[in-house]
Amino acid sequence: MTLPLPLTIDQTRLLAELHHLATLTDCPASTDASLPQPATAVTRLVFTARDLQARAWLTGLAEAAGFGVRVDAIGNTFIRWEGSDPSLPAVATGSHTDAIPYAGMYDGTVGVLGGLEAMRALQEAGFQPLRSLETVMLTSEEPTRFGIGCLGSRLIAGVLAPEPTDALPDLLPETDAAAPAGLRLREVREAAGLRGDLLSVRLPRDHYAAWVELHIEQGPLLEREGLPLGIVTGIAAPASYRYVIEGVGGHAGALLMPDRRDALCAAAELILAVERHTREANARAAQGGHSGVDTVATVGSLQVHPGAVNSVPSRVTLTLDIRDTDRSRRDAVMEALHTDIAAIEAARGVRITEFAINADPPTMSSPQILAALTEVCRAEGLPYKRMVSRAYHDSSFMAAVAPVAMIFIPCRGGVSHRPDEYSSPEAIALGTRVLALTLAKLAEA
Ligand code: GLV
Ligand code: MN
Ligand code: MN
Repeated sequence: MTLPLPLTIDQTRLLAELHHLATLTDCPASTDASLPQPATAVTRLVFTARDLQARAWLTGLAEAAGFGVRVDAIGNTFIRWEGSDPSLPAVATGSHTDAIPYAGMYDGTVGVLGGLEAMRALQEAGFQPLRSLETVMLTSEEPTRFGIGCLGSRLIAGVLAPEPTDALPDLLPETDAAAPAGLRLREVREAAGLRGDLLSVRLPRDHYAAWVELHIEQGPLLEREGLPLGIVTGIAAPASYRYVIEGVGGHAGALLMPDRRDALCAAAELILAVERHTREANARAAQGGHSGVDTVATVGSLQVHPGAVNSVPSRVTLTLDIRDTDRSRRDAVMEALHTDIAAIEAARGVRITEFAINADPPTMSSPQILAALTEVCRAEGLPYKRMVSRAYHDSSFMAAVAPVAMIFIPCRGGVSHRPDEYSSPEAIALGTRVLALTLAKLAEA
């Protein structure tokens, strides 16, 4: 292989682009001086005016670098550098640019802008790939607006049926100026100029020769161990559920305690049961010689009806996000929870309905890509940690159309999904360099 040497990642350009993207936010500027700086709070929900602005800007960057751009019916954006044999399956990288409310500026964006920078750096070094190279910006990795994460990559993988997906309700509150309440995904994407059948988003198995995603770790291990890079061997299995708890409401003064069927009290029991079963699963795993931290569960959103100070809650809707590196352990927590739910219903006279949103398997990285990453790290003299990803990523679904692996870079304190998320410019540039060298290696094979 004739790798271009020296390969220069333009750290200044890449950081300027990351900072510009962070200005495309629906959060008001932070006035909280107590937050570590920079504390850019980023909210960029899919298909809002802000997201469309970010998409147009990214397309402009890609075109300015001379790359081709294709956008599919869900808005996945494919930035392509044609190889000398365009008939061969391409080698691809990418991630997402949408952000949950009050997020930081690095989650996903490092993988998209880092991918673009890797392609530009290879181009500027005079490299000509045999296989085409692509950087893909995948739509709605975050579940905030339509309730399910990795919308774009799930559709690529063919794990979501087009019609029910198009019927997903828009969860944005009606106060959002970009869209009135009560819309469905189909109307929202069409308003964003994305027409066409969602079936057309699906790609065939082996569409790509390889997929490598660069991402911040979102955990503390690399920083703690003083290591610059993580090579991700697998991604934990995520699942999510929505619960509707129906009780009986009434006057907060007049409805006597023995007569109550309070939906929020039932929800509180359910939430604590989730926490208890998760902790117990970890304790059992630790006794069995496992790490004892691999099961995680979160109730992160809760709506109380009617939500008035002097009204007994009659209905509660809540979400559960549960993940594990071991799918059967995750499923065992759910089984224990189901027993508790039946007991809560009986004891409190409420009805609890569960809606499964997703229950995905874990993802294993490709040994060939892991070997390529390892060779690049060794050649560059870089220490690395082989590790699992506890966060989910689009790579989980890109695995249906490509062998996959991921590169992690450290982030301060392991903090993510918070405004004070931070990775250093040097860490970002180094991750981008390793990505570029790996893409080049894979594009020659
Ligand atoms: C991705 O944002 C995740 O929740 O893991
Ligand atoms: Mn995220
Ligand atoms: Mn992410």
